[in-house]
Amino acid sequence: MCGIVAYLGPKQAYPILINGLRRLEYRGYDSAGVALLNSKLNVYKTKGKVADLEEFVRDVDISGTIGIAHTRWATHGEPNYANAHPHFSQSKNIALIHNGIIENYAPLRKELETRGYKFESNTDTEVLTNLIEDIKINENVSLFEAVRIALNQVIGAYAIVVIDANDPNSLIAARKGSPLVIGIGKDDYFVASDATPIIEHTKNVVYLDEEEIALIKRDSDLKIKTIRNKEKTPYIQALEMNLSALEKGGFEHFMLKEIYEQPSSIRDSMRGRLHAEAGSVSLGGIIDYEQKMVNASRIIIVACGTSWHAGLVGEYLFEDIARIPVEVEYASEFRYRNPVIYESDVVIAISQSGETADTLAAIELAKSKGATILGICNVVGSSIARATHAGSYTHAGPEIGVASTKAFTAQVTLLTLMALRMAQLKGTLTKSRFIQLLHEMERIPEKVQKTLEVSKKVIEIAEQFKDVRNFLYLGRGYNFPVALEGALKLKEISYIHAEGYPAAEMKHGPIALIDEEMPVVFIATNKGTYDKVVSNIQEVKARKGKVIAIVTEGDVTVRGMADYVIEIPETEEMFVPLLATIPLQKLSYHIAVMRGCNVDQPRNLAKSVTVE
Ligand code: M6R
Repeated sequence: MCGIVAYLGPKQAYPILINGLRRLEYRGYDSAGVALLNSKLNVYKTKGKVADLEEFVRDVDISGTIGIAHTRWATHGEPNYANAHPHFSQSKNIALIHNGIIENYAPLRKELETRGYKFESNTDTEVLTNLIEDIKINENVSLFEAVRIALNQVIGAYAIVVIDANDPNSLIAARKGSPLVIGIGKDDYFVASDATPIIEHTKNVVYLDEEEIALIKRDSDLKIKTIRNKEKTPYIQALEMNLSALEKGGFEHFMLKEIYEQPSSIRDSMRGRLHAEAGSVSLGGIIDYEQKMVNASRIIIVACGTSWHAGLVGEYLFEDIARIPVEVEYASEFRYRNPVIYESDVVIAISQSGETADTLAAIELAKSKGATILGICNVVGSSIARATHAGSYTHAGPEIGVASTKAFTAQVTLLTLMALRMAQLKGTLTKSRFIQLLHEMERIPEKVQKTLEVSKKVIEIAEQFKDVRNFLYLGRGYNFPVALEGALKLKEISYIHAEGYPAAEMKHGPIALIDEEMPVVFIATNKGTYDKVVSNIQEVKARKGKVIAIVTEGDVTVRGMADYVIEIPETEEMFVPLLATIPLQKLSYHIAVMRGCNVDQPRNLAKSVTVE
């Protein structure tokens, strides 16, 4: 949602903070700000991106070895100067940055107003800043204690860092529901929403836990307490991430780089787990829960957005090869629907960021009913990874582009491995079929590589359709979720309206949309319901729709009917989503670039959605 970064140490803070904000900009980019403390606490902030902030501070004093900075995705109040962070308290003695939502900010604000506080913004954050100041003055306590007491009064989610104009040697950081990492350098400290701004300075980090508050003091050890005042021992971990993973590496956009990383990210997701020669699959992270899965009355998959689409592929996989019933739920609906959850249920929560608020809430609900919760996350140490009983990381590497690409294929890879492992344990496939599938899965990265080579055709199609207003994506079976994902990718980065549908559903409504202007993307690979999809293509052609078809190499039937075809290598039906998704990602990418859209930071979106 928002990005937080803070620094305390011997170096100048501003360059470290601004560099950190650039790394976190994928989390939100409608305003940015920084607070720096030298002889005075200065706050500089502006509407717009981090580059606008850099321009804004060109002629001002940016010295100081302690500071906090923020890039925002608006929740309370429009993106403007007043609502940008950091927020000063009324006396201007305290400045605060915040990621999350204080749900009870309205009564708190009212109460503070009756006590004489005036507010400059519409934000919940300014309310929290003044609440802390009010407690500090009236209860005559330290800033740390005032923050602790204030956090006991707020309902909602927060990751905050607080700086005091009268104390150039301390920062206070706390979290609940929104992530916060503290980097521990040789003689300095870094705080950030994720590890990306920290990695170039130190590999030693402490992930703050729920309701923990940290006192970060110059030349002193890190101190952590819970907001209920219980001392905690900081647990220092080593980061495994590399700096090169955070750079564009010669690509024009992160999204394109991440699309092209898929042969290696899929291979990384399989590494050490798929043993074709030995004829087995091993998933160390969930080994203690395998029998629970085998005995589960059903699997419930909870997720949002692209991760939900991966979950749908999971449904086909588990039911098809492991014969376990699966329900796939939007986490946001599940959490409020009073769902029936049994102790014998296994819930799989899928999330790239591991911070999605709805998915986290769905996990807590299922946990409270006694279900077993497994996670599939990309971000190591994220809230969802820690809230689940066990899980497997996707190991796709950092995904910076807001539109998810390599995380999706990594999630599908992991679900495929899980389903295969269940099939192995339950004996739902013959040994020879099982081994055949493992060998084919091993070849998927090289087939993805081959699929990536279709650029010329995709660019030609993008050129042809970049100005249309609507797109339809149709697929059946394993290719239905691929259609949904293709449509989501197009709409989120190009702002063209796109719908994904099961191909057979077309005749129950969407067929009314078909005319000679309407491009219809069919995922028409040669397995499963191929013949039925061919009939659906004919229905579109009969109404003069323009057909773009993703087909299996060597296909002649669909080639004879479609206006454009993109070939992907032959593979088993259950692996097709891993290949068919690739040209759809590229089509969206090229259309968005041709339309002049900001591919990596599409309007109104943020990488992780840590609010409801
Ligand atoms: O981090 P998560 O996987 O939990 O995020 C879920 C969705 O917000 C995310 O997939 C979103 O739909 C992406 N923008 C899709 O590209």
